[in-house]
Amino acid sequence: MNAITVTPITPRIGAEIGGVDLREELSEAAVERIREAWLEHQVLFFRDQDLTHEQHIAFGARFGELHIHPTVPHHPKHPEVLIIHADENSRSVAGDGWHSDVTFEKSPPLGSILRLTEIPPNGGGATLFSSMYSAYEALSPAFQDFLEDRVALHRLGKLPGHRQDATPPSAQHPVVLTHPETGRKGLFVNQGFTKRIEDLSREESSAILQYLYKHIENPNFQVRFHWSENSIAMWDNRCVQHLATWDYFPATRHGYRVTLKGPE
Ligand code: SIN
Repeated sequence: MNAITVTPITPRIGAEIGGVDLREELSEAAVERIREAWLEHQVLFFRDQDLTHEQHIAFGARFGELHIHPTVPHHPKHPEVLIIHADENSRSVAGDGWHSDVTFEKSPPLGSILRLTEIPPNGGGATLFSSMYSAYEALSPAFQDFLEDRVALHRLGKLPGHRQDATPPSAQHPVVLTHPETGRKGLFVNQGFTKRIEDLSREESSAILQYLYKHIENPNFQVRFHWSENSIAMWDNRCVQHLATWDYFPATRHGYRVTLKGPE
């Protein structure tokens, strides 16, 4: 087997992984190398990985138990697999605003592994990833201190493609999350699901969240991934937010995501 290569794309976030065929059962050493690169670079990209659903699931399962999405329909034969699809009939697409996945759950997923099997023929459909470590580190120490012990409420709102329950799922999380594996601090509020910062007035909470949402959009914290057929992005949901662009309508973009469950 070739040695696994890790090529950073920016100094802050993102690396491309080479020298590995994800159709094969990976050695412990290979999984460890990928896990280390994932923790360091926060989002990894793999090219030319023509996987079956079973191989995609098996790869994900090497990094933890797989999550079954509570409110989005999944693949009919594989509940762990979410279908990501947009075409000329789409009125919306999944993930076209900045978000971390499923933060309305008490224990949000560790990460997600998305592979695209069909990409728009004339380009477009890139995914943007933003480092929440970099976003946090760019704040002044005084503002970091203010945010440090704050807690935010996350709740599933009315989102296209999501089942609407009478009582939408919700959870509280720290505004500044210390990553359990790296020990680094990152912002953990997102415009997809965060509703308010607790213990502040509605106006204060809204002003601070709006500031933070604008702050995380700084391109200096980001990497933009241009997909090719059978490429894979594997992101760490604890320190990365992402956004799927939808600049390719009416073309088709299609793929599958497995998601790594958070701790019980
Ligand atoms: C998602 O939010 O998981 C979808 C990302 C994408 O389609 O690029």
